[in-house]
Amino acid sequence: AKLLALHGPNLNLLGTREPGIYGATTLAEIEADLAGRAEAAGHRLESFQSNAEHALVERVQAARDGIDFILINPAAFTHTSVALRDALAAVAIPFIEVHLSNPHAREPFRHTSYFSDLAVGVVCGFGVDSYRYALDAALQRLGAAA
Ligand code: DQA
Repeated sequence: AKLLALHGPNLNLLGTREPGIYGATTLAEIEADLAGRAEAAGHRLESFQSNAEHALVERVQAARDGIDFILINPAAFTHTSVALRDALAAVAIPFIEVHLSNPHAREPFRHTSYFSDLAVGVVCGFGVDSYRYALDAALQRLGAAA
């Protein structure tokens, strides 16, 4: 199967961005790790990061063409973007919401997500391991390689 990992605004700065909260691992390292694990399980995973809401909306719309499962860290758009939520609802591709930090343990404006009620599940608070756990869950659901 084909998986898509989507990364929202400022995640291109991972590695140097508030490392006390988000850790020292770069996005390139996360993407390579996810792609390698998906491949080892007989699947394929591609990644896309953007700081622009419209680019993420368009990537979700394009995912109708062959993507079976989405892992998404909407970053700050988690708490603001009805448009990205609506795009995921429109394509009806199952997705897992991922966060490095635990937004519920942070500022009140991070306690609301426009995605969680549509998601298969939410993984947050485990740093880069959040992505791994989310991928494991996705692979579990996808079953044997196809
Ligand atoms: C984040 C949490 C969001 O609140 C924040 O805006 C981010 C990253 C996380 O992965 O912990 O940019 O999604």
